[in-house]
Amino acid sequence: MKQEASISFKYNEFSSSEELENGDDELVAAARKAALSAYAPYSGFRVGAAARLESGMVVCGTNVENAAFPSGICAERSAVSNAVSNHRDDKIIAIAVAALTSSGETEEPVTPCGNCRQVLIEEESRNDNKVRVVLAGRSKILVVNSVSDLLPLHFNKSNLKLILP
Ligand code: THU
Repeated sequence: MKQEASISFKYNEFSSSEELENGDDELVAAARKAALSAYAPYSGFRVGAAARLESGMVVCGTNVENAAFPSGICAERSAVSNAVSNHRDDKIIAIAVAALTSSGETEEPVTPCGNCRQVLIEEESRNDNKVRVVLAGRSKILVVNSVSDLLPLHFNKSNLKLILP
């Protein structure tokens, strides 16, 4: 029997970081600051990410590019690596992202690439805890309640249980 299905999600849109809730204004400020120290000589697109841990601590990351282009890493994965390497048991509860070009902060929010979404999903699934995603642009900030909203029908450790004893 064929059945049509659909997936949709709600998110919030803000016009300035001052309107943000749950300390997300501080997180956006940290992501914007981190973007200043990104290493992005090849794209000129400097990205900063700031992860809020359950303890309240904020851990940042930036994109780090490489002459061998695929060896570069995005800001979101840098932040996750930094957080997990140094505070493995302190859950990531939110992550903010902001980006700079030669004309300043991007007007539109930057949304994480598929690779980063998958890495963030791992944090949600291993901690059984949602990670809020705060995507900042100069004139618009999007707040998504869970990374899984950004990666519907994703693969995670529960899929592996289908084949592993
Ligand atoms: N980039 C990030 O760091 N995060 C994103 O969400 C999008 C893209 C980086 C990768 C590369 O260094 C540069 O931005 C241009 O794609």
